Amino acid sequence: MSSAPQSGPTQKHGGAAPAKHQGGGKPFLSDIQELRRRAREHISQGAVTPGYHADRDTVVKLLNEALATEIVCTLRYKRHYFMAKGIHAEGVAAEFLEHSQDEQQHADQIAARITQLGGEPDFSPDGLATRSHAEYVEGNSLEDMIKEDLVAERIAIDSYKEIILYLGENDPTSRRLMEEILAKEEEHADDLANLLEDLGGR
Ligand SMILES: [Fe+2]
Ligand SMILES: [Fe+2]
Repeated sequence: MSSAPQSGPTQKHGGAAPAKHQGGGKPFLSDIQELRRRAREHISQGAVTPGYHADRDTVVKLLNEALATEIVCTLRYKRHYFMAKGIHAEGVAAEFLEHSQDEQQHADQIAARITQLGGEPDFSPDGLATRSHAEYVEGNSLEDMIKEDLVAERIAIDSYKEIILYLGENDPTSRRLMEEILAKEEEHADDLANLLEDLGGR
């Protein structure tokens, strides 16, 4: 569904000026020469610099669990899209399709971040359902499908919140990505709750 409107007044940002000074004349950022020296060290580590404070193996493991969750959600929404039947199904099926595409995009974004961190995205079908936080439930009726999708979204929302808390300030890029995805899952859950309400009201 549509995203929230951008709000707030336009703010002036300092731009990319690293030479900002804090009170006592000390540079705001670490010494630029030191930053450059550290960047040249271990160039083969790509986006992972010595300033990366997170436990990379744990982050990759958590991101792989999120990846599995997104793949399972993609598959479940695909199944529901193709199986949606009945006179109320057209709008619901369109929603299932849109969600499956969002989940696929999340999977791709998470996989890209894993490779940036020097890890390997796990796309193996072996153990996929176990790695995933959310479940693959087929559902017998349209209502069942919507309920199962809502349950899966709520699981994703809770587990992504925990991942975001874990990432904290140690890996702000992964955290921002997961925050962006979390906002989308909350939107999905809201869509599904509205669909259930519509269905009940008919
Ligand atoms: Fe997702
Ligand atoms: Fe979702």
